[in-house]
Amino acid sequence: MYNTPFHTKDLCNYSFLVTGGSGFIGSNLVEYLLKYKAKKVRVLDDLSNGHYKNLFPFKNNLSFEFIKDTIANPDVCMNACKGMDYVFHEAALGSVPRSLKTPLKTHEANATGFLNMLDAARNNNIKRFVYASSSSVYGDDQNMPKIETKIGNPLSPYAVSKYTNELYAKVFAMNYGMEIIGLRYFNVFGPNQSPEGAYAAVIPLFMDALLNNNSPYINGDGTQTRDFTFVENAVQANIKAIFTEHPEALSKVYNVAVGDTTSINDVFHELKRLTRSTSKALYREERKGDIRDSLADISAAKTYLGYNPQIKINEGLKITLDWFKNVNHKSK
Ligand SMILES: NC(=O)c1ccc[n+]([C@@H]2O[C@H](COP(=O)([O-])OP(=O)(O)OC[C@H]3O[C@@H](n4cnc5c(N)ncnc54)[C@H](O)[C@@H]3O)[C@@H](O)[C@H]2O)c1
Repeated sequence: MYNTPFHTKDLCNYSFLVTGGSGFIGSNLVEYLLKYKAKKVRVLDDLSNGHYKNLFPFKNNLSFEFIKDTIANPDVCMNACKGMDYVFHEAALGSVPRSLKTPLKTHEANATGFLNMLDAARNNNIKRFVYASSSSVYGDDQNMPKIETKIGNPLSPYAVSKYTNELYAKVFAMNYGMEIIGLRYFNVFGPNQSPEGAYAAVIPLFMDALLNNNSPYINGDGTQTRDFTFVENAVQANIKAIFTEHPEALSKVYNVAVGDTTSINDVFHELKRLTRSTSKALYREERKGDIRDSLADISAAKTYLGYNPQIKINEGLKITLDWFKNVNHKSK
C-alpha cells in the first residue's frame, strides 16, 4: 500500500506525533510516514483499544518511538509534543454503542484528552494539528449528501465528544493563531482494523465471520447506507491536510469519504462473493444512536486540501480481505 506519495515536501525534515498510532487509522498513518522516511514518528497510545502488533514492523526503525500512556493526562501530552513539528491526533474511544454504555470514559478520552492535546500543541508551538472528527457529528440532519456547514443534533455521547473537538479547535485557532484542520471520517475500513472486542466495526466483523463460516449479525434490515472509505484515502486526507498551502484551508473541518453510498446488505453480499462463503446473515434490532444513511459531499476536501480518493469500496474490500487472510486472526 501507499505506493504513491500524497506529499511533495521531504518528510525527512519533519517530526510527527501520531496519537492513537497503534490503532487502525493511526498505524496506517505511521506506515505511510515511515515509508517516506519521516525524521521522527512518535506514537502516543495507551493501548486501550489499539494493538502494539500493528506497530511491530516499525519497532527497529530508528525514526520510530512509542509512548504507552494516556492523553487524559495533560503532562503526558505536553511531553509527547516536545520536539515535534506536526501532530496527527487520532486517539479516541470510537463506537457509538460504547459511548452509550460508558459515556464518562468516552468523554475522558475524546473530549478531555482532545483538549489536553490541543493545549500541549499550543504550548509546544506545533506547526499544524490535524485531528479525527467523525460523520456522527451530522446526527439527525436529513440532508444528503452531508455538507460540512450543515449539521443536525448529535445522537450519542460519541457524537457530542467529536463535535466538542470541532468547537475547541475553532476557538483555539481563533484565539491562539494555531493551524488546525479537522477531518470528519465516514466509516473507514482496511488493514489493521480489528474484528475483536464488543465494539468492532461492520466490515472486519463480516470478514471474520465469513472466513470462519459463521453468520454475522446485521443490525436493522441492512438497507441502511454508508459512505465506506478505504483507509488509504483517509491517510491521503491527513497528509494533504498537514501540508496544504491553500490560503483558506485552515480552521475548517472536512468530510473524508469517497462520495459513494453502499448498503450494509451490499457489503455483505460482495464479501460473500469474494470469500465464496455460503453463510447467511442474522438480522436483529437496529442499534440506538446510529444514523440511518450517510453519504458525503467531498468537494470541500477536494478544493482546499487537494484530496482525491483513489480507491473505491470494492477494490478496498479486496485489499482488506487479502490482509485478513494473512494475519493471525481467529481464522487461523
Ligand atoms: N474508523 C472509523 O471509521 C472512524 C470514523 C469516524 C471517526 N473515527 C475516529 O478516527 C480516530 C481513529 O479511529 P480508529 O478507527 O483508528 O480507532 P482505533 O480504536 O483503532 O484507534 C484509536 C486509538 O486511540 C487509542 N486511545 C484511546 N483512548 C486513548 C487515550 N486515553 N490515550 C491514548 N490513546 C488512546 C486506542 O488505544 C487506539 O489505539 C478516532 O478518533 C475515531 O474516533 C474513526
